[in-house]
Amino acid sequence: MYKKTLTVALATGLVLSPMSFSVDAAKPAPNEQSDHAFDNKVIKKINADSMYNNIALLSKQPRAAGTEGEYKAVQYIKSEFESYGYETELQPFTIQEWDGGTSAISFNDEEPSFDVNSFEGSINGRVTGPLVYVGLASASEVGDEVEGKIALIERGSYSFYEKIQNVYDKGAIGVIMFNGEGRSGNSFGYAYEGQDIPAVAITREAGLSLVEQLQNEDVQASVSVTNAGVIDKTSYNVIAKKEPHPKKDNGQIVTVGAHHDSVPNGPGANDDASGVAATLELARIMAKTPTDTELRFVTFGAEEKGLVGSYHYADTLTDEEIDNMVAHFQMDMVGSRDAGELIMFTPDGNKNLVTDLGASAGARISGAVDYGQLGRSDHVPFFLKGIPSALFIHAPLEPWYHSPDDTIDKISKEKLQNVAEIVGAAVYQIARPDTPALENARVAPSPADYDFDDRPL
Ligand code: BES
Ligand code: ZN
Repeated sequence: MYKKTLTVALATGLVLSPMSFSVDAAKPAPNEQSDHAFDNKVIKKINADSMYNNIALLSKQPRAAGTEGEYKAVQYIKSEFESYGYETELQPFTIQEWDGGTSAISFNDEEPSFDVNSFEGSINGRVTGPLVYVGLASASEVGDEVEGKIALIERGSYSFYEKIQNVYDKGAIGVIMFNGEGRSGNSFGYAYEGQDIPAVAITREAGLSLVEQLQNEDVQASVSVTNAGVIDKTSYNVIAKKEPHPKKDNGQIVTVGAHHDSVPNGPGANDDASGVAATLELARIMAKTPTDTELRFVTFGAEEKGLVGSYHYADTLTDEEIDNMVAHFQMDMVGSRDAGELIMFTPDGNKNLVTDLGASAGARISGAVDYGQLGRSDHVPFFLKGIPSALFIHAPLEPWYHSPDDTIDKISKEKLQNVAEIVGAAVYQIARPDTPALENARVAPSPADYDFDDRPL
């Protein structure tokens, strides 16, 4: 017999002071034996193919908040939760979006062959006047000659605000801006409150041809923007709840989440169909696993528009629910072949119950997971309500982040499997019936040493 000291000192204070007890050296320590047995109840059931297939399905098209693509994803996620036996709720909320309306330009009374888009925030209106080229529209480039004219501006070096303000202050009646060097497309630009002239964007090629034309002749231009403005759209959170075992209800709630919306121009396979697929997979497994803790699996809408769905969800929680919520696990970008190692981010850069559980599960499965400081996802509204929460993500990020190339072929089943195992084991450590007892030394796994890491994103 030998004496082993077991230190169960997690950063959360939820736990024990160091204690010691005797074990038989020939056998594994009781906690080691039980750790893996408990973890295995979850991790042996994880199916990476099923996560991969869900990502393939969800990333067939972009899922920008408020679009048909999002709504299809929402319906799919809801029906998946229901097929596992969950009661689900679709929680709608309003988002505001800029609608560019219709814009047009003409030169010497002829419509050009190229397209035009209004700036976000442009006023509606139609103006006609001489076209004048003012370069980058810095304060020193813009003189009184723009008065009563339409300013042709090159994008770059100064903010949209400054450029428009400089010509507006000198009496310009409209703005046509062409794209900057090395940039393609004609969809860009912001106009601000008080900049009361219509402003539109054109491609670099179109702009350079106008600059050349102006060297040879005067050009009479017109710019019109109609029906542009802010419109309301509806986005959704999808919520699946699992009640604890009625005789073993400890009153606590653990939430696991991801965001189902994508950016408008990308299929968002990793960001964040990967997190949705892992959330669905853990929900599938936990549906049949008794717990003493209420579990909520939530996919959020409109994360890419500023965490709108998760703020809405957090704002609809009652004080009692907030008191009972002990942990929120957010999975965002958890499957990229081309990203770095797993890390857990908290908005304040401090450890908490979620990072302790994640690091400890990681140590048992594939190595302790480090933590760092970052907001930028749906763990933030939970954190602001005082709920221990962390974002599970791989860093450095893959080059495909927020691009049309964030596609299924870049997804790694190994990465998905590993994150689902770690988050699944961490959730189960706290939700399984024989723990409220992170305090219960007989079954509580050992804490892990894990470090702060400020690696680049
Ligand atoms: N998946 C990202 C979060 C992220 C990005 C974490 C980069 C770490 C590094 C998320 O979907 C996202 O893009 N969030 C927005 C923030 C939000 C408030 C609009 C972002 O970071 O621009
Ligand atoms: Zn994301």
